[in-house]
Amino acid sequence: MSLIEEARAVRLNAHAPYSNFKVGAAIRTASGAVYLGCNVENVAYPEGTCAEAGAIAAMVAAGETEIAAVAVIANSPQPVSPCGGCRQKLAEFAGGDVTVTLATTDGVVMDTTVAALLPGAFDQDYMSRSN
Ligand code: THU
Repeated sequence: MSLIEEARAVRLNAHAPYSNFKVGAAIRTASGAVYLGCNVENVAYPEGTCAEAGAIAAMVAAGETEIAAVAVIANSPQPVSPCGGCRQKLAEFAGGDVTVTLATTDGVVMDTTVAALLPGAFDQDYMSRSN
């Protein structure tokens, strides 16, 4: 199954009763393994988590930290745009050249990269003078 099809399937498990906006995410790592996530909302709204965060948590829990490719899908008019926080979370484990495939459930697909999604990313270099 392609990464976007994996994301499409896990999206159906999203818990999104407040926004009614289900999102699925799939991450392929350097080892070739695939980790999946969906958004999990909460009645205390800020406690909800994004699909990308779920997939990253599953990857790290499995002992992996090197993202090779990402796919995200939602029923949106344009390929779904990862939120700012998820862009930073992806940048923690993915090089700037890693492809992020964004899709709509009706078949519009757009490829971008981690660097294009998060120009000027905050990284460890900025902390080099910290004491
Ligand atoms: N959401 C994601 O899971 N990923 C994204 O890339 C965009 C937004 C979720 C969060 C919330 O559950 C719902 O979509 C509406 O914002």
